[in-house]
Amino acid sequence: MTLTSDRTTRVAIDVSTQNSPEPPIIALSNIVKSYRMGDADVLATRSVSLTVAKGEFVAIMGASGSGKSTLMNIIGCLDIPTSGHYSLDGVNIRDLDDQALSRIRNMKIGFVFQGFNLIPRMSALQNVELPMAYAGVKPKERRERAIVALRLVGLGERLEYFSNELSGGQQQRVSIARAIGTNPALILADEPTGNLDSKSSNELMALFTELHNHGRTIVMITHESEIAEYASRVVELRDGSIIRDQRQIARVPSESTNTAASPQDGDGSEVR
Ligand SMILES: Nc1ncnc2c1ncn2[C@@H]1O[C@H](COP(=O)(O)OP(=O)(O)OP(=O)(O)O)[C@@H](O)[C@H]1O
Ligand SMILES: [Mg+2]
Repeated sequence: MTLTSDRTTRVAIDVSTQNSPEPPIIALSNIVKSYRMGDADVLATRSVSLTVAKGEFVAIMGASGSGKSTLMNIIGCLDIPTSGHYSLDGVNIRDLDDQALSRIRNMKIGFVFQGFNLIPRMSALQNVELPMAYAGVKPKERRERAIVALRLVGLGERLEYFSNELSGGQQQRVSIARAIGTNPALILADEPTGNLDSKSSNELMALFTELHNHGRTIVMITHESEIAEYASRVVELRDGSIIRDQRQIARVPSESTNTAASPQDGDGSEVR
């Protein structure tokens, strides 16, 4: 990519993947989020500091009420911390007004939600195109990029299907295609396997592993330690603080996504 970064938004997005000295994708420093409840302040996060470099696959774990969603909302620029500092891909979030914040959210983050959040009366293709439309990508190009993204997640044959015509696993794959279509700096997933059966969950993790292997940065909330095994780093929260932050050798999926219909082949456990 030799074009200068000031030509178009699209080029500016691509430039963030160059190998010049790069800022971390996420730099959280002493993040506090407090809520006023009656006379008292509830601390949803207490002085959380966390740095995530480009290309990491991080699982955020913790019991209910430990502050996971609060932290995700801050990382996703959906909420502003009470105090502390947050830079997303080198941009200081505190400097931005609401409009700039939603722009950076749209350009830099691809969201994957537990409930998929697809628009029901739109085809898979249209759902994937939507964030690109908001990001100002021209119709012809967003169509091309949406097709590439849907093929990548194994849905090249389902481009025109509505979401109610797709299985849960397929819907979640559409939402991943939607998340990567804008070529974001970060994929942010909140309980992405929460509504999936174990087979679909493993297929989804095979897809995340593939994206990770291709250099994508992924931050994923999960309650399930089996799902967290696919990440290369696990961060655990308790009562709004990080109590564990460990790198690990990520679990290798048993089969690639596109052939995941027979995930037990070669294992033998199912056959016998
Ligand atoms: N809008 C709010 N107003 C008041 N308190 C809040 C608010 N949002 C979160 N909290 C409090 O902050 C703490 C952390 O909440 P958070 O939603 O981040 O937990 P969580 O780890 O995502 O839990 P779960 O696994 O149940 O989704 C909780 O004690 C919660 O009651
Ligand atoms: Mg939550």
